[in-house]
Amino acid sequence: MAREKVTIPHLFQKKARGEKITMLTCYDYPTALLQEKAGVDIILVGDSLAMTVLGHDSTLPATMDVMVVHTQAVRRGAPGAFLIGDMPYMSYQVSSQEAIRNAGRFLAEARCDAVKLEGGRNVAEVVAALTRATIPVMGHLGLTPQSIAQLGGFKAQGRDAEAAWQVVEDAKALEQAGAFAILVEAVPPEVGQLITERASIPIISIGAGLHCDGQLLIVHDMLGFFEAFTPKFVKKYADLNGIILRAFREYIDEVVQGRFPAAEHCYSMKAGELARLQNLAREGKGA
Ligand code: KIV
Repeated sequence: MAREKVTIPHLFQKKARGEKITMLTCYDYPTALLQEKAGVDIILVGDSLAMTVLGHDSTLPATMDVMVVHTQAVRRGAPGAFLIGDMPYMSYQVSSQEAIRNAGRFLAEARCDAVKLEGGRNVAEVVAALTRATIPVMGHLGLTPQSIAQLGGFKAQGRDAEAAWQVVEDAKALEQAGAFAILVEAVPPEVGQLITERASIPIISIGAGLHCDGQLLIVHDMLGFFEAFTPKFVKKYADLNGIILRAFREYIDEVVQGRFPAAEHCYSMKAGELARLQNLAREGKGA
């Protein structure tokens, strides 16, 4: 039976009741089917797909066209989840008009419920413009992967009082601009807690501690399906790399040794047809 669609009011109710919000990234249909079955509240089609799926060394090469195709596939697999499309690099930085046009594609073409974009006070005007255009926006603060050149790499943020206070101020500015939720990445738990306590919108953590209103993990990290690096905040709930590698090696061995395919993987001929084929082969032997 299909579950009730997750909406923004549901997410606010969860915050009000102190119930944790669950969120995962997803990039494809079969994984979306499983996340829907498991009952995850929010699915983010993150621009992290540039790294986890396409093999780039940063998120910057993700494009709107690629993001929309993957988001459409995820929506087909997860009709009930609250679906967020991640605004790729340079899809919202140039102007509010471009941001609205690109964000609108996520809602119209991929049936998203919202979009996410990175930044604080520097993107408050874009957040306000999208909100006025009826597009719900999740903010993203702390470690913002589209700014790694400025941040000097994938590093934890807000580790001294002044830097932490900047993140708190950015969160307030995003809320005032109309963001319906904020994702906070890679900051100490005390900073995640302070932001959460001061906010009236849901605050989701990815590496921002237990006191936020919900948690996000990147699906390839939590399934053990991404080897390049593992951030401190990741817990591996499975070892897909090991499982898949074993399956590939077993397949190669069986093919090489002539043990695959076995009889049960082969089609049988219709009754009496084998004898007829053998006759045809004998007759045609000299041809
Ligand atoms: O693209 C993504 O998956 C993200 C996470 C790193 C939060 O934005």
